[in-house]
Amino acid sequence: MPFNGRPRATKGLVAPQSGYPTTRMRRVRSEDWSRRLVRENQLSVDDLIWPVFVHGGTEPRIPVETMPGTVRYSVDALGEAAKEAADLGIPVIAVFPQVDAELKDGIGTYAVTDNNIVCQAVQAVKSEAPGIGVMCDAALDPFTDHGHDGLLENGAIQNDATVEVLVQQAVLQAKAGCDVISPSDMMDGRVGAIRAGLDAAGFEHVMIMSYAAKYASGFYGPFRDAVGSASTLGTASKSTYQMDPANTDEAIREVALDIAEGADMVMVKPGMPYLDILRRVKDAFGVPTFAYQVSGEYAMLKAAADNGWLDMDRVMPESLMAFKRAGADGILTYFAIEMAKRLRG
Ligand code: PBG
Repeated sequence: MPFNGRPRATKGLVAPQSGYPTTRMRRVRSEDWSRRLVRENQLSVDDLIWPVFVHGGTEPRIPVETMPGTVRYSVDALGEAAKEAADLGIPVIAVFPQVDAELKDGIGTYAVTDNNIVCQAVQAVKSEAPGIGVMCDAALDPFTDHGHDGLLENGAIQNDATVEVLVQQAVLQAKAGCDVISPSDMMDGRVGAIRAGLDAAGFEHVMIMSYAAKYASGFYGPFRDAVGSASTLGTASKSTYQMDPANTDEAIREVALDIAEGADMVMVKPGMPYLDILRRVKDAFGVPTFAYQVSGEYAMLKAAADNGWLDMDRVMPESLMAFKRAGADGILTYFAIEMAKRLRG
């Protein structure tokens, strides 16, 4: 029995069935009311997490070229955007910074600098929309001049030294008012270390949503453009810390470790190409499980729709429903505002 209390269709096919013509599958599909009646999954505003980009300048909205329809907000404009999201009922907003090039260095100093752009963004959201949750990434890639999530020594990512910086970053974000720390770096042991660090600093109430099964994916391309790590990273790969797209069992081990280390919620990323992982994780652990419909997925749908090749009104809800069907409790999606408006009617 899965933990979500719903027998899975594939396991539930034990009832004796008579065949056609006694059984006609189309009967309950024939009317709108009966289709609604037998619908197995629902998408609601409560399922949506809105990832947003924030920059340090004064321009209220700078379009992200590779993600048409999304922008980088100034801190002030982000406050207003958060208010709109809160009014729509979106539960939580995830903040990602675009850091000025001159603030970047090899060790990501600005990530642990008081009142940095992330802290300012958290405070702006909290003052304009006190009821909305704020989530922040723990990772160094927006802050390093080499674009990696961790500290580099002789070309190799230093796991344990990186974890120490991530703990400081998480505590700084918690001090600014962040509700959910979201380690996206894939270092070993970071969830346990961040939990201990938060607790020691008096932030035992701050939640952790770990990017537990995060793959080394080409689908992050537009995001790296949005936060400005595409140019710093260049052609370097994150394969020594993010997962191999060929693996499934490894995802189960990653998630098990993060839960054991204190993760309150776990995430699978990217989304649509990894629905099998999502289903396995949800069935295996039954913890709050989230999918990230990443920048490349957004860009693909948007580009096709903008060319008239796909109907956005159909593919946006369909792509999000796929995550619910695969077991997600919620979805990080750049469509959050548009989808929330539609769900609100
Ligand atoms: C940073 C981070 C990335 C994403 C979220 N946090 C990029 C990466 O790991 O290179 C990707 C989000 C997206 O593509 O929408 N560690």
